[in-house]
Amino acid sequence: MSHSKVIIVTGASQGIGAETAKAFRAQGHRVVAVARSIAPTIEADYIAIAGDIGDPATARRAVNAAVEHFGRVDTLVNNAGIFIAKPFTQYTAEEYAATLNVNLNGFFYITQFAIEQMQKNSSGHIVTITTSLVDHANSSVPSVLASLTKGGLNSATKSLAIEYAKAGIRANAVSPGIIKSPMHAPETHARLAGMHPVGRMGEMSDIVNAILYLDSAPFVTGEILHVDGGQSAGR
Ligand SMILES: NC(=O)c1ccc[n+]([C@@H]2O[C@H](COP(=O)([O-])OP(=O)(O)OC[C@H]3O[C@@H](n4cnc5c(N)ncnc54)[C@H](OP(=O)(O)O)[C@@H]3O)[C@@H](O)[C@H]2O)c1
Repeated sequence: MSHSKVIIVTGASQGIGAETAKAFRAQGHRVVAVARSIAPTIEADYIAIAGDIGDPATARRAVNAAVEHFGRVDTLVNNAGIFIAKPFTQYTAEEYAATLNVNLNGFFYITQFAIEQMQKNSSGHIVTITTSLVDHANSSVPSVLASLTKGGLNSATKSLAIEYAKAGIRANAVSPGIIKSPMHAPETHARLAGMHPVGRMGEMSDIVNAILYLDSAPFVTGEILHVDGGQSAGR
């Protein structure tokens, strides 16, 4: 095992985020997990912070906890996200605000605070979870709010990669297809499987493995890694 890194994972109370936190811990890394419904704790190699990641105060608490208890921030996994699919004109103002809050504000503040810390070590990595729907709009899943926010995150990932390339800080994204997480009720799985060229949904481990790969790939930055059963390639 290489040296123990300090990893912040947002949206880590369940699903892909919880699995990501578990995988990094299993590799001997120290993790700061953030979500609204997570049980707060401070342990030798694990801290859980409860809060809304769209609130800059939560983002500040998470980064401060990493620095105060573990001394640094090596990797930030921007995983917290919500997905609301419906015809464009039916989105409510509340749904619009909620999506911007988590998907954009939840990326913006904590990424700023994390990069400030990474600059001190001339080293760091931001991984953001987006969605392949951004690249292949699907008439059966109208979801402009996902495209508006996650599409921006893909572009911001490339921008950050370039802005910080010489500073030793990398930025990448993982772009999932439809993954068997608590986001999708089991009774929907058969229909969702059919939306992938490979004919099946992805597992949470597929996304976790992509995150672990990117985190161990020093020459990879500005990459949008599609883990989507072929969705972005065509149909
Ligand atoms: N599953 C898929 O098919 C799929 C496909 C493409 C992309 N993705 C992306 O993958 C990421 C993880 O998805 P998932 O399937 O694991 O979803 P999930 O099971 O619904 O988990 C979402 C996580 O985000 C947290 N979260 C939501 N709002 C938050 C807020 N305001 N502040 C802090 N944390 C918040 C939730 O915790 P609390 O409720 O406790 O706050 C939860 O831990 C998301 O960005 C999602 O858009 C998923």
